[in-house]
Amino acid sequence: MTLYDTIFTRRSVRQYDVAPLSETMLEQIRQHLAGLVQLPGQAARFEVVGRDKLKGGFAPYAILAYAAESEAACINIGYTLQGVDLWLQDQGLGSVWCGMATPLEKRADYRILLGFGPTNVPPRSSETDFKRKKITEISNADNPVARAARLAPSAVNLQPWLLTFSEGRIAVQVNVRGFGRVIPGKMWLFDIGIVTKYIELALAQEGNAVKDLVISGTGKDIAIAINY
Ligand SMILES: Cc1cc2nc3c(=O)[nH]c(=O)nc-3n(C[C@H](O)[C@H](O)[C@H](O)COP(=O)(O)O)c2cc1C
Repeated sequence: MTLYDTIFTRRSVRQYDVAPLSETMLEQIRQHLAGLVQLPGQAARFEVVGRDKLKGGFAPYAILAYAAESEAACINIGYTLQGVDLWLQDQGLGSVWCGMATPLEKRADYRILLGFGPTNVPPRSSETDFKRKKITEISNADNPVARAARLAPSAVNLQPWLLTFSEGRIAVQVNVRGFGRVIPGKMWLFDIGIVTKYIELALAQEGNAVKDLVISGTGKDIAIAINY
């Protein structure tokens, strides 16, 4: 499958097999991480660790994301690791973003982790398995790109994004209300990076390459312009 196809079958996996992954597979994952293309000007660092290095979480392994503290850095981690989340599930592994788990070793530049490991939990079989907002609640247009974006994962499934389509451009804005305001750690920054990755993959599926991704504003007024 392609990463785009995997959008329609992925899920957060919270039950894992006990058997460890082979060193070959772990090395393949490290190689994949080393070759990731990040947002311009961003250079997050990713490290694969086992459960013994973690506090909380579900998965036997995790990819720890490190970057200097900035809004753009968190958007970049969401964008970059969402490609990894899809890739891991395409390899037949389970994965889950975990804002609540942390590495045992405290570091100021630690931002978030993506858990992963072998699983017997099957992928989703259809779009109706996804619990998501209606397309009209997240987008000014109903089209294949918006339909793929609608399936993006987000912290507590808040789906804190608003998409505005115009000629050659999609604007991703933050829409955090109610419960979302009390979630610690500005998780929506990862979320809008995540949905941006989905939009990029869906545009590519239609033969539209992204020309640039421009972050503007700050706080809840932060936005990403995706020009294609
Ligand atoms: C940034 C982020 C942080 C998350 N943190 C947690 C977490 O701490 N614990 C958890 O069980 N799920 C966590 N999730 C998973 C979401 O709950 C999940 O993506 C959402 O409910 C949608 O379900 P799905 O991924 O199965 O489609 C997180 C997701 C994201 C994107």
